[in-house]
Amino acid sequence: MNILILGSGGREHTFAYKISQSSRCEKLFVAPGNAGTASIATNIDINITDFEAVKKCVLDHTIEMVIVGPEDPLVHGIADYFAETEALKRVMLIGPSKRGALLEGSKQRAKEFMMQHNIPTAAYESFTAETLEAGKIFLEKLNPPYVLKADGLAAGKGVLILTNLEEAKQELENMLAHSKFGEASSKVVIEEFLDGIELSVFVLTDGKNYKILPTAKDYKRIGEGDTGLNTGGMGAISPVPFADAVLMKKIEDRIVKPTVNGLSKENIDYKGFVFIGLIKVGDEPLVIEYNVRMGDPETEVVLPRIQSDLVTLFEATYKQQLHTLQIDIDERAATTVMLVSGGYPEGYEKGKEITGIENVEDSIVFHAGTKLENGKIVTNGGRVLAVTSLDTDYKKALKKSYQNIDKLSFDRMQYRSDIGFDL
Ligand code: AMP
Ligand code: GLY
Repeated sequence: MNILILGSGGREHTFAYKISQSSRCEKLFVAPGNAGTASIATNIDINITDFEAVKKCVLDHTIEMVIVGPEDPLVHGIADYFAETEALKRVMLIGPSKRGALLEGSKQRAKEFMMQHNIPTAAYESFTAETLEAGKIFLEKLNPPYVLKADGLAAGKGVLILTNLEEAKQELENMLAHSKFGEASSKVVIEEFLDGIELSVFVLTDGKNYKILPTAKDYKRIGEGDTGLNTGGMGAISPVPFADAVLMKKIEDRIVKPTVNGLSKENIDYKGFVFIGLIKVGDEPLVIEYNVRMGDPETEVVLPRIQSDLVTLFEATYKQQLHTLQIDIDERAATTVMLVSGGYPEGYEKGKEITGIENVEDSIVFHAGTKLENGKIVTNGGRVLAVTSLDTDYKKALKKSYQNIDKLSFDRMQYRSDIGFDL
């Protein structure tokens, strides 16, 4: 069948890489894609939140399956648009409906869902401009640090963690009364701070049945030793070494099952990924957030470990038959290290020529922010390349990634040399 992937980052290149290996895929398209996807698929330059444009692309190329990479089209209702459009309703779209996507699109909705279905999470209350003063009084009752979360999508920047009470009150006011994150912070969730170690669990669900995919841990800060500004992610490791069978059983019983059952009980059409951000406090897992898509760069370590045919898995997801399949996972560890543009996550330049990709051996280079310009591969984003390796343990895999990074270069290339430092 012909397949379309929506998105343009390392996550989408990884999807394209796996799907292009499936015997069930005839023609593969990525919209808008990058220089990496161009080497294994046909890029189509459209705006993926313009659903009419997506529809035209699907019909022009007789696409039978669509995989939605980022959250934006999902939160805007692309799955509902497909289901309600006569010419598209038989296309197998992988991604939740708008109601499902609210688990990522609204922090308050996510918290209410967790409370409703007894899923362990931090205590919280939410506030609006009208209840700003009550919010300040609530902060006074909490112990620092204070966690403030803009309710809506804020490009990964909407969470503030503050140690000082006065500063926390000021930021609450900035969010609610002065639109610090625009419409996204017209509502703010204030949450109890959880002190522990983070990990992510990925679930593929058809709304009734589910498969737990490999775990991963990403490194969000720009600086070594987890310092400096937050980024989209500077590297990742899978599996998470401390996610042993005992912890995974707790996660499955207390979090994954109630989440999928909750979706089903609420009649939410959900055929896609649930990316569960967790903190292990002592020995107990608690949810800090849901995302309704795969993570980036987590995808670059999770998918290379899935040995089962992805197209078959997605078809079963769409047909609500996931329970009929087994999923085979590569026992080896996978690591990825992101190469980023100097200045990222703040201002950076684009258009720098990338050299050395052809010399990489025994690692996979996934393109994140790249494009082709006059036959050359140039940088086109903050996060540029993800260098993924597999080996018997994560240290060996990391060594391969770093050895290959030495062969790659572009002007002001940067990366963290300490991925996995805390494990
Ligand atoms: P999010 O944008 O929801 O992924 O949150 C960003 C980061 O803030 C998370 O990766 C955590 O490191 C941190 N965080 C979020 N909620 C809490 C919490 N309740 N306690 C401690 N840290 C948190
Ligand atoms: N790496 C974190 C995310 O994709 O949200």
